[in-house]
Amino acid sequence: MRRKTKLIHGGIAGDAHTGAVSVPIYQVSTYKQEAVGVHKGYEYSRTGNPTRHALEELIKDVEEGYAGFAFSSGMAAITAVMMLFNSGDHVILTDDVYGGTYRVMTKVLNRLGIASTFVDTSDLANIEAHIQPNTKAIYIETPTNPLLKITDLQGASEIAKRHGLLMIVDNTFSTPYWQTPIAFGADIVIHSATKYLGGHSDVVAGLVVVNNEQLAQDVHFIQNSTGGILGPQDSWLLMRGMKTLGIRMEEHEQNTRKIVEFLINHPAVTRVYYPGLPSHPNYDVAKKQMRGFGGMVSFDVGSGEKAEQVLTRVRYFTLAESLGAVESLISLPAKMTHASIPKERRDELGITDGLIRISVGLEDVDDLIEDLAQALA
Ligand SMILES: Cc1ncc(COP(=O)(O)O)c(C=O)c1O
Repeated sequence: MRRKTKLIHGGIAGDAHTGAVSVPIYQVSTYKQEAVGVHKGYEYSRTGNPTRHALEELIKDVEEGYAGFAFSSGMAAITAVMMLFNSGDHVILTDDVYGGTYRVMTKVLNRLGIASTFVDTSDLANIEAHIQPNTKAIYIETPTNPLLKITDLQGASEIAKRHGLLMIVDNTFSTPYWQTPIAFGADIVIHSATKYLGGHSDVVAGLVVVNNEQLAQDVHFIQNSTGGILGPQDSWLLMRGMKTLGIRMEEHEQNTRKIVEFLINHPAVTRVYYPGLPSHPNYDVAKKQMRGFGGMVSFDVGSGEKAEQVLTRVRYFTLAESLGAVESLISLPAKMTHASIPKERRDELGITDGLIRISVGLEDVDDLIEDLAQALA
């Protein structure tokens, strides 16, 4: 099955009982047992729910993994995966991961004894240099948020295998339509499905896909024990969104290429970050592991003051956190998504006050370019 077909026919399509072509919303908490322990596969909806199960099967298929799990948010998914580790364990992470990931590692999981080191994983030597005797995993975001840095998934997985570490990839920005990390050796893939997978700014959700039976058992045990599951209504909404992921990603890609072209030629823009630009330092790696470069672009206008002017002048780009939706969004990472990262650390990473991030939506690209042109003028 090709990717667009899999998004529509993968997982559990329709309802075997009624012939309904859309999986029904099983709005139920518990299930009748014929005798003690004799049931149709479901006992209690924290443990398993048919609508959530259909979504979990779908993400498993599109990420080409062994099993999928749905959580109430991307952060719930990330936290559940981190619960695989014990006090005393250490994880190496990409340095400009999503601010919430940085926050949960440095303000919550550190208190439980799970230590973390943040390195620029786009240079594989940095990963190798920071492995300690207690290191258990490498956690990668590629492309990163908001600097669009690229890490070589194959190279990182070879390091992980050599040292007996798990390799975890946050695939939110690329989506499985453009990048399938398990094919490059990842053990676990995570999504903030709130973004492209949902695609319509109407659901908060997280997904996890694992590549083997042991991890499937472990993640299910954590999901059931800690309980951060996705409800049936949101599971259904997410499946509806995912059916059009392919066609949306193709259109995001085309709009983004035209906007990048406009930005690199604009005198008020000092720098453009996009992995599809041949001048991007990891363009060759991006080309090897991504089928498309995505709809996220960051650009610098030189100062926080200028950036805020652009943000207040745009008409079609909605000033909002989040990304990956049909409507174009614009944000100022230093003051919004990455505000929880201390300023010194942001400056070290290159997340300057003048850095603007856009999530290119599905509006007519000529309207988007005109809008940016008037705002930058
Ligand atoms: C790359 C990435 N990972 C994880 C998250 C967290 O996901 P959620 O907001 O669904 O909890 C986000 C949210 O913006 C994100 O951008």
